[in-house]
Amino acid sequence: MAAEHDIKAYLQDRLKTCFIGRELKYLETTTSTQDIARELAEQGAPEGTAVIAGEQQSGRGRMGRSWLSPAGGLATSIILRPPLACAYLLPALSSLAVFRTLAKIGIKAGIKWPNDVLIEGKKVCGILIENGLKAGELRYSIAGIGINVNFDVSRYPEIADIATSLSVQLGHELPVADVALLLYTELEDIYTSIAEPARIIDEWSQNMITVGRRVSADFYGNRIDGTAEGVNQQGSLIVRLADGSVKEIVAGDVTVTNGNGGA
Ligand code: BTN
Repeated sequence: MAAEHDIKAYLQDRLKTCFIGRELKYLETTTSTQDIARELAEQGAPEGTAVIAGEQQSGRGRMGRSWLSPAGGLATSIILRPPLACAYLLPALSSLAVFRTLAKIGIKAGIKWPNDVLIEGKKVCGILIENGLKAGELRYSIAGIGINVNFDVSRYPEIADIATSLSVQLGHELPVADVALLLYTELEDIYTSIAEPARIIDEWSQNMITVGRRVSADFYGNRIDGTAEGVNQQGSLIVRLADGSVKEIVAGDVTVTNGNGGA
């Protein structure tokens, strides 16, 4: 990625958002953009403040996993301050923003519940939502978004079989700053409709590749196998088991057990 002033100037010249990315911190390298965004949020940074890193040394994933974040990826964390009652929509709206961003680039992706973005069955983007709660109040949320933009996943054995990147898909590289520009624009567009959850949930579920698939999931410590029938208005995944009963998976991970699980 280019030097800090280049990225900032590039984005500031082109961004037409009202708040997302208007305050921007770029770091050539850092531990995790989540940590930097959290510090800024604690210091009262305005909603929409974004942190971008050229690469992360300790990128974090969901469920205690790490996130590989070499140069050529987009690693960004955005400070949001949604009403507590709407915070459950952040995984849906963030993954939808990525889905729309890729569509604008000409790539057909799909969302794997709850918020992975896949291309042809391979993960191209992961999202980590972290919340700052105090005395039962949501002071801020941080939407951490990692997109594999310009790197050859085959060089990283730990992800080579399960991940892809935009450059692998397109056959050429593209400016990471352009991906950030589209992402912030789409994220703001969706985020400003947070008071209309049905619109967000509907568009999210329409583009979700998990629906209709056989899945395996952890349900309160037990593994369940069934068919994902859809999502409800709270964003939970509805899974029908072989005995006909229905389970609502509120959080966690699912494994798609038939097909390639991909878009
Ligand atoms: C996952 O798929 O498990 C979530 C991965 C989230 C990665 C992003 S990259 C930007 C931000 N900083 C981090 O350390 N993690 C998130």
